[in-house]
Amino acid sequence: MKILNFGSINKDYVYSVNEFVSPGETIQTSSLKTFIGGKGLNQSVAIAQAGSEVFHAGNINIKDDYIKKELIKWNVNIDYMEDVDESTGHAIIQVNRSGENSIIIHGGANRVFESDQIDKVLEDFNQEDILLIQNEINKIPEIIEKAKNRGMTIFFNPAPMTKEVLKYPLSLVDYLIVNESEAKKLSKNKIDFDEIIFDLKRKYSNTSVLLTLGEKGSIYSNRNEYFKCEAMNVNAVDSTAAGDTFIGYFISCLSKKKEIKDCLLIASKAASICVTKKGGAISIPNHKFVI
Ligand code: RIB
Repeated sequence: MKILNFGSINKDYVYSVNEFVSPGETIQTSSLKTFIGGKGLNQSVAIAQAGSEVFHAGNINIKDDYIKKELIKWNVNIDYMEDVDESTGHAIIQVNRSGENSIIIHGGANRVFESDQIDKVLEDFNQEDILLIQNEINKIPEIIEKAKNRGMTIFFNPAPMTKEVLKYPLSLVDYLIVNESEAKKLSKNKIDFDEIIFDLKRKYSNTSVLLTLGEKGSIYSNRNEYFKCEAMNVNAVDSTAAGDTFIGYFISCLSKKKEIKDCLLIASKAASICVTKKGGAISIPNHKFVI
């Protein structure tokens, strides 16, 4: 079983602030750090750190070759990465005193995927393989449909959530992984977690739903199963990439045929370690420290 991640790659500019900037306000930051990130890249790094092989299909600007070198160091396969003329995507991330973040992204190279590029990548994958995808690149409906035609198992994390997601072919998705705000938007603003799960399962009856709730834990449910997992109690300094860590670890564990409740527990432990460090991909722990 191979894991393919069609995903974004960003340069993250991380600013430490007391409070997030408000409309009309100008604020000073106490520090600026730059990292490589992007929900796609972070999730590939998390899969690799969890001990699984992952193929990352992503675009970067021709001048940013160092990103490929970093990915190789993290054991992410870069055979399906492309150099493009567009600038590499970037994110402006504010991290406040409580370790919460607020993010603006500029898609750049993440938004210039072409149909022939998608076809070329998918040619090497089949019904035994997994496709992971987030919502930071273009052509998502096409990728989902083409991967499904090849019989792949599809994991979709609609982050960041946009109104277009409601028009995506979500019934083709095997595992829908959402956080609280994404889940609410997909379920017409239902508040109660079990009601959200019930609503999503009613709409997408063949889809397993994984709801990640940060410090409130996680819930997994499909037709026959329902599991809740508590989060670990830690001193969070930066929540960036915590969700990505959870997702990468969950998929890696599932691909190794671990029980769902163990996948949730391990993913939750990995995410709780991630939030104790600053940065995105760089704060994703290796499995030696998790399992
Ligand atoms: O999930 C965190 C990621 O979101 C950051 O690395 C940033 O690039 C944005 O895509």
